[in-house]
Amino acid sequence: MDKYELIRKATHARSLSYSPYSHFAVGAALLCKDGSVYLGANIENSSYPLCMCAERNAIYNAMMDGKSKDDFEALAIIADSDQPCSPCGACRQVISELFPEEAPIYLANLEGDTKETLIKELLPFAFSGEDLE
Ligand code: THU
Repeated sequence: MDKYELIRKATHARSLSYSPYSHFAVGAALLCKDGSVYLGANIENSSYPLCMCAERNAIYNAMMDGKSKDDFEALAIIADSDQPCSPCGACRQVISELFPEEAPIYLANLEGDTKETLIKELLPFAFSGEDLE
């Protein structure tokens, strides 16, 4: 599956967003090496800190189906943003632990702008489990 098809899946995920408070819908699609794709969208709550981002929902969705880091091949994220939508800090931390460092992350917006990156570019010098040893 190429990056544009994965971004299309993320666009579909975005349509499932529940974001009545921010009105900022985000979609994510996580491609696995076996070809399966797991979707995530941001799900908000009237108790704002309980809002969950699209990227984390996609990763957690895959893990609840038995997938893990080594199964993941690529991640696409899309929102109606001026620049290709970039993950928030919390999602960067989760991606750094649960998503492979060599796997591409495709950022996109509705204008068709895209950017390809890696988690080490998004979160250099990340805190990790090794720091707890
Ligand atoms: N959001 C995401 O889903 N992913 C990000 O990386 C950026 C922020 C969501 C959270 C909240 O529901 C809305 O976008 C506005 O911050």
